[in-house]
Amino acid sequence: MASMTSLPVLTTSPRLAALPVTIANVGLSYACAGNESLLTGMVRLGRKGIPVGCVNGGCGVCKVRIVEGSVRSVGPISRAHVSAEEEAQGYTLACRVAPATAVQLEVAAKLARPFSRAGATVASALRPTTQPKET
Ligand code: FES
Repeated sequence: MASMTSLPVLTTSPRLAALPVTIANVGLSYACAGNESLLTGMVRLGRKGIPVGCVNGGCGVCKVRIVEGSVRSVGPISRAHVSAEEEAQGYTLACRVAPATAVQLEVAAKLARPFSRAGATVASALRPTTQPKET
């Protein structure tokens, strides 16, 4: 009889408990796991409110300001999109942070207006309003 060998058990990291996230601009709330980004959690549930772009920190369209609660990093945040001064004021990229507590956020001011007007489109929200910074 052949001996049985134990195979390694493949596991995926368990989803951490979901925490409530509120997008103040549009009055929308959703539950986001503590190990997924604020943006991924919103998209996974088919919700809208935070502009969705590259989902990897490269475009900056998901810039938000954390109004209440705290977040933890799930990836680097480029200074091309969030300056140190802005970060100190609570600005971050929704695709690069996960909730550490219940969170209330606002979509960054330059993108907030299209989402608060009736009939606005996502395309108009993604149109650049400033020139890129030189590095
Ligand atoms: S979606 Fe592009 S930086 Fe977050």
